[in-house]
Amino acid sequence: MFGQREIERRVRHMAGELSAFMAESNSREPWVVLGVLRGAFIFMADLVRHLTVPVELDFIRIQSYGQSDTSSGNITLLNEPALVMAGRSVLLVDDILDTGNSMVWLVNYLNNQKVENIRTCVLLDKPARRLVEVAADYVGFVVPPLFVVGYGLDMGQKYRQLPGIYQLP
Ligand code: IMP
Ligand code: MG
Repeated sequence: MFGQREIERRVRHMAGELSAFMAESNSREPWVVLGVLRGAFIFMADLVRHLTVPVELDFIRIQSYGQSDTSSGNITLLNEPALVMAGRSVLLVDDILDTGNSMVWLVNYLNNQKVENIRTCVLLDKPARRLVEVAADYVGFVVPPLFVVGYGLDMGQKYRQLPGIYQLP
């Protein structure tokens, strides 16, 4: 669906927009780039290396029960961020916005932590699959409602290491 070069170009462009936005925001402390494990690890690693502003990095790990590879809305927090989120400006980075359940849960979690500011960023957006109304502030690619793997995205924990993004047959 998307090759290495195309992804790299898009991620670099997103990092440019994000850097400009962060530089202009009057956040007292650096933004915290908060990756959602495990799917966002490759996207986040590439994205932050193109940022031109200071940031702090952290991760949150969640799991959703129900179907094995998509969210059910029944979400459990597996690993909290290590940084104290209260008062911080947080850029939430996820691999894909699908039903929206994860994003809604995560934004609610961060609001409960009394973050000062939230922006959301996903590599892929599948708007046709949305079950709850939510949008990301920064989107890499809008994709059709197909199951995709690679570049961090898995099916049953496999294929995350693929450098491109592929539609499963
Ligand atoms: P949501 O909560 O339904 O929006 O789903 C978000 C999570 O479901 C993502 O972070 C992925 O882990 C997983 N997911 C949704 N669609 C796909 C896909 O096409 N491939 C791999 N994982 C997916
Ligand atoms: Mg997953």
